[in-house]
Amino acid sequence: MSQKEKINLQRLPKHIAIIMDGNGRWAQEKGEDRLFGHLNGVESVRDIVEGAAELGVQYLTLYAFSTENWDRPAYEVTGLMELLVETIRKEVPTLNKNNISLHVIGDTSMLPPAAQQELSEAINETSANTGLHLIMALSYSSRWEINNAVKNIAADVRDNKLQPENITQETVQQYLCTKYFPDPELMIRTSGEYRISNFLLYQLAYSELYFTNTLWPDFRKENLYEAIIDYQGRERRFGKTSEQLKTTIKTDIF
Ligand code: IPE
Ligand code: IPE
Ligand code: MG
Repeated sequence: MSQKEKINLQRLPKHIAIIMDGNGRWAQEKGEDRLFGHLNGVESVRDIVEGAAELGVQYLTLYAFSTENWDRPAYEVTGLMELLVETIRKEVPTLNKNNISLHVIGDTSMLPPAAQQELSEAINETSANTGLHLIMALSYSSRWEINNAVKNIAADVRDNKLQPENITQETVQQYLCTKYFPDPELMIRTSGEYRISNFLLYQLAYSELYFTNTLWPDFRKENLYEAIIDYQGRERRFGKTSEQLKTTIKTDIF
């Protein structure tokens, strides 16, 4: 039985989020420049997007560039931005062919104008697609997102559009960049780092976390299948006891 066949398609995570990490180390291991790692990371993006779409995953969020990554050496930032523009331009026909819509979360006003332009065109050109929602986290950080949400909530209270006593968790959710997307059930981080690095702090509240030593440019569909199988072997209790869950399942069946 192949790894893919071991996946229970009835219990597929609707939303998978990935911190694509390890491009620099992958390149350095080969005696190459960090940008070579990023270039090869694009191959993994292609493979994983295709793999997720084939399985029927509905949302895939990829952390591609954090707010903190702006502090990297200028040549790396410029190289990454050029790679981004070029990749988006090249990939739009494939996204359309595979019925995938593109979305972006993050402070895109920080991106170079050419990248902003390419992105908004790609988002428009893929907006009618009804398959996988591919969400790129670009110039994204959770604290930036939450800060932004708080500012907007405060402004709406000031303008009398919102009453403080009516603010619920659903209201807060509506002020996040992810307001149109469900929370990820599964979050994967590559490269052996065990941290969240300012990614979806609010949305990951009850996500299952999966860490692998594989560096992002080596990550392929098989690795994605492994992560999903691992996820499917877990018991998600949401604060309840295991016994309670079993009772619920029995009630569901009978
Ligand atoms: C992830 O790989 C890609 C980005 C953060 C843009 P890194 O560039 O962080 O690679 P390592 O962690 O240095 O190996
Ligand atoms: C997290 O990776 C951001 C992305 C993958 C885009 P980093 O490599 O920037 O994270 P830290 O700095 O090691 O935590
Ligand atoms: Mg890194």
